[in-house]
Amino acid sequence: MAKKKVISALLTAGLVLSVNGAYAQGPVSGAPNQNAASAFDNKIIKKINADNMYNTVAYLSEVPRQAGTPGELRGVQYIEGKFKEYGYETEIQPFKIYSAIRNNVSGLLEVGGQDLKPYVMTGSYSGDVTAEVVNVGLAKAGTVPDSVKGKIALIERGDITFVEKIQNVLDKGAVGVIMYNNTGTSNGFGQAAYGQNIPAVSITRAQGLALADQVKNGPVTAHIKVTGSGMEEKTSYNVIAKMKPNKNKDTGQVVMIGAHHDSVPNGPGANDDASGVSAVLELARVMANMPIDTELRFVTFGSEELGLLGSYHYAGTLSDEEADKIVAHFQMDMIGSKDAGGDNKANGLIMYTIDGKKNLVTDLASAAGARTALGEIVPYGQLGRSDHQPFHELGIPAALFIHSPLEPWYHTPADTIDKIDKQKLQETAEIVGASVYQIARPDTPALEHSRVAPQPVDYDFENRPPGA
Ligand code: BES
Ligand code: ZN
Repeated sequence: MAKKKVISALLTAGLVLSVNGAYAQGPVSGAPNQNAASAFDNKIIKKINADNMYNTVAYLSEVPRQAGTPGELRGVQYIEGKFKEYGYETEIQPFKIYSAIRNNVSGLLEVGGQDLKPYVMTGSYSGDVTAEVVNVGLAKAGTVPDSVKGKIALIERGDITFVEKIQNVLDKGAVGVIMYNNTGTSNGFGQAAYGQNIPAVSITRAQGLALADQVKNGPVTAHIKVTGSGMEEKTSYNVIAKMKPNKNKDTGQVVMIGAHHDSVPNGPGANDDASGVSAVLELARVMANMPIDTELRFVTFGSEELGLLGSYHYAGTLSDEEADKIVAHFQMDMIGSKDAGGDNKANGLIMYTIDGKKNLVTDLASAAGARTALGEIVPYGQLGRSDHQPFHELGIPAALFIHSPLEPWYHTPADTIDKIDKQKLQETAEIVGASVYQIARPDTPALEHSRVAPQPVDYDFENRPPGA
């Protein structure tokens, strides 16, 4: 019964014929059944207004929205305010982020009256310790001797992460770290994590081997002094808006529409990714009063630019049961640049999936492309680099909507509102809106979970590197 909705949804789009879940020849090569689909599409796409999206981009890009700064919070409050205005149940989900401070950093490592002029590991705690040196080798878990308690650990780089090594000696009570390189002549490497409150410095391989020799021949005392370095804790946020279906029409399933609201430092991030947020808000506005049988969940993520931290945090808060209800994640990131996409088909729009395979999201959206303002089937390709990644890892069909190749302003202070093309915003919002509504509208039976998402239909894979 659940499988039926997938099939009927795609049949409505005129895309696929399927018997017992096995896909027969798709009838289309670019011209899906316009009439059947457009009546449903029109309920959404006729209401999408690019001026609203443009205004959102203009407001958000007035100040950079670097994660953990007041600029992010300003954006977050604006976004939540809009969701509330449209009648959604909202939540601001805070999470901690940590960044290294390097403020006139200086490091000293004295052994036998000589300064080895070490590198201060990124994020190292600032401190001043004098203690005996204990060679702990690679400092793998379970190999660090108890004798390092109250002493400085001499560690060789390699095999496990810097942070793991520091933690392993910290767990045994070490008061400082000297790490030596496993190759070459450089001393510039290494990083510490928040809460690892002992100074940690790095030295060259030659220096390290010499020190290890000295230690073998008798007690050696070292003095480490680090200033101007440390880790800072800040708060970043996800903004979540939910619209539940009517109780007697509820499939128990959820469809997600996402973007990230943070920008790079000093970047106004008009296209990256105020553009995606603007479409999330516009679709939330348009869909607020539509009849649905599937929960709509709009989320804007913080700290995407720091490594998808917000979306990983969000995904980590979902129980298995909650994750299983999510049937699709549509991620819009950089969907409005005049200068992106080159001469590629579909105005440069492409749907990137993590595994380079088609899924429910790409099947629906590719077809929607042909029926809506764009008027073309949308190709797909393979790429991570945005918040569709954690959803894919949960087994949820997910794709990134983006114009590729990227514009030259990507991650620069020139990513400003004047580079935004309303037509591209409109086209992408229509495609995602029509696809989402195809899942969420109540006239189709329950949609099966992602793991049995439909097989390929007639649209092309493109090996299209985004550049930058
Ligand atoms: N908007 C970009 C995503 C992007 C960039 C997609 C280039 C395709 C090509 C995103 O905000 C970003 O910059 N992501 C980072 C990676 C992330 C894990 C920190 C990137 O691509 O460097
Ligand atoms: Zn981005």
